[in-house]
Amino acid sequence: MRPFTRAVHVPVPPLPNSRPISVPIYQASNFAFDDPDALAEALGAPDNGFVYTRYANPTVRALEDQLARLEGGVAAVCTASGTGAISGVLLATLRSGDHVLAQNCLYGGTYAMLNDLSARFGVEVTYLEGDDPAEVAAAVRPTTRLLYLETIANPVTKVVDLPAFLAAGKAAGLLTVVDNTFATPLLCRPIEHGADVVVHSATKYLGGHSDVTGGALVFADDARYRQVWHHVMELGATADPFAAWLTIRGVQTLPLRMRQHCANAAVLADRLAEHPAVASVRWPGRADHPDHGVARGHLSDFGGMLVFDLVGGREAGRALTKGVRLAKLAASLGGVETTLVHPASSTHRQMDADALLAAGIGEGTVRLSAGIEDVEDVWEDLDQALPL
Ligand SMILES: Cc1ncc(COP(=O)(O)O)c(C=O)c1O
Repeated sequence: MRPFTRAVHVPVPPLPNSRPISVPIYQASNFAFDDPDALAEALGAPDNGFVYTRYANPTVRALEDQLARLEGGVAAVCTASGTGAISGVLLATLRSGDHVLAQNCLYGGTYAMLNDLSARFGVEVTYLEGDDPAEVAAAVRPTTRLLYLETIANPVTKVVDLPAFLAAGKAAGLLTVVDNTFATPLLCRPIEHGADVVVHSATKYLGGHSDVTGGALVFADDARYRQVWHHVMELGATADPFAAWLTIRGVQTLPLRMRQHCANAAVLADRLAEHPAVASVRWPGRADHPDHGVARGHLSDFGGMLVFDLVGGREAGRALTKGVRLAKLAASLGGVETTLVHPASSTHRQMDADALLAAGIGEGTVRLSAGIEDVEDVWEDLDQALPL
């Protein structure tokens, strides 16, 4: 089956003579058994039946199957948030003294978590520029365990040469983990390029309607799935059935939405680039994006996230976020509605000018998440809010 079909057709638990077309919400924390041995068995593995929702739940399992099929993995573990997925995989696989390689352009929460693991548990982290896969071999030590990448990196849309970086990670014997939140399995399936584990914040495009908080881990192999499932279950980071149900609904229309997110981002990126108030635009689909050539190699489209720098700096950035009427000033992204944020004065306000610059964020940088509205309405809104 092709991705559009995989997204729509979700396996549902059967009834005796028929089955529901949509996945029911199994809003149960506890499941009753006739046989004590069957209960004991169900506690020991994710696929021995349903005993307790923190271990496994039929609605959550339907989402896990839907996502595993879409990403081309063997199984998935859904979590209470994207952060639950990230902490789940890091805490399940790292010990103190281990060394991690991570690209330096990363979701801020991942960066904070790696730094915390480093300060409190002695996990060492080396950050890579992400421009040359040879950086992996050059940074590897005998204690290096894990390579952590993002397909399209938050916040500035950096795209590493994923197949080459994954190959370098595998050659060094590392566990390779890729956060695929911005690209989604519609634009890239990292497991096809050699990733061991794929991370998602389902809060973003998978849910897609700004109404659910969730996350997921998708695995290339069964042993890793079982190991990480055990830790996520022990951490208590498991997904709630209602959140899983909303996410299943979201994922069924993900292919259609991603088409429109990408198409809107393409139009907005080109129009912003021509506007005199805009100094530069970064969208991986534009020929002037530093990673455009690399992105063309493994992304089937270039995503709904774009970043632009205003000539007027900090004041212009703040003024734009105040001046928009249709687009929303909001920290999160990936919903059906267009949102934007001025990182220097909000999400990244704790960083000084040097740190901002190192992260590719200027005083006048704005990050925009293109929604699925009629793009002409979004452009009219941005145009009236941009300085003349
Ligand atoms: C790329 C990426 N990964 C992970 C997360 C964390 O997800 P959540 O907020 O669902 O915990 C985010 C949130 O912004 C993100 O942008």
